[in-house]
Amino acid sequence: MKEKLKNIFFKFWYWYVSVVDKNAEVIFMNYGYSKDNQKIELDEKDEKNRYSIQLYHLVATGVEIKGKDILEVGCGRGGGLSYINRTFAPNSAIGIDLNKKAIKFCNKKYSSEKIKFFQADAQKLNFEDNAFDVVINIESSHRYSRVDLFLSEVYRILKPGGVLLFADFGNQYDLRKLNRQFKNRNFKRLKNEIITENAVEALKLSTPNREELVRKLLPKFFQNLGGNFAAIEGTTTFNKFLTREFEYVFYVLSKYFFINLTQKRY
Ligand SMILES: C[S@@+](CC[C@H](N)C(=O)[O-])C[C@H]1O[C@@H](n2cnc3c(N)ncnc32)[C@H](O)[C@@H]1O
Repeated sequence: MKEKLKNIFFKFWYWYVSVVDKNAEVIFMNYGYSKDNQKIELDEKDEKNRYSIQLYHLVATGVEIKGKDILEVGCGRGGGLSYINRTFAPNSAIGIDLNKKAIKFCNKKYSSEKIKFFQADAQKLNFEDNAFDVVINIESSHRYSRVDLFLSEVYRILKPGGVLLFADFGNQYDLRKLNRQFKNRNFKRLKNEIITENAVEALKLSTPNREELVRKLLPKFFQNLGGNFAAIEGTTTFNKFLTREFEYVFYVLSKYFFINLTQKRY
């Protein structure tokens, strides 16, 4: 029951952001990444999204993206895929999200860029087998009721040797389950990094911006809830990262493929 209510709330929240954000101020919805306050080089217009972009940057450097066919599952309002497309020059880039309004927003905002967006459910992807070199998934999988279905879809649509770049958070139980699911799906782990401290640092550094957005976009009675959702410093969600009740993880996983050496050659 609690899980059901949470799902309804999150769906409502993503929809609500799409409705109130008239000036397209929210194009990222992740908690961000910062390491010893080192700053990657960014265009002036990207500066206000620095920490969310730094998370995308970290994830995208998990594998060579140049010239590859990439898909982002759970792309939200598209800021991340747009950044990757501009910075890492894939051959093609597609973003999908469950939220129709977000997809409409993306198709309008990034129409001049060579990327496409479609509405779809991560647990049932409408793509051919072996279609992509790289699938990206950032801070979205914790919303799926069947992560196993999502992983089997990703496995199916990745080319052999293709890579899933994955970042998300959860408690110890969630993360143990996730590890088992990766294993069951025959994904080979190329990288497994815990980046909770980097999320905490990013959240602290971005708290003034997050506070300002919450004040700007939400009515007063909704601001506490919004602040908690945005993990502003001092909120319950922020403290769960601080005390490591939540861990934030980054994985690079490859679609493992078997070569049958006993097979006869003709
Ligand atoms: C926290 S936001 C992260 C968005 C984006 N990756 C970013 O970092 O800005 C989570 C996103 O996952 C999407 N999502 C939730 N459940 C989904 C599903 N079953 N299939 C596809 N997208 C889903 C939500 O609509 C939302 O846009």
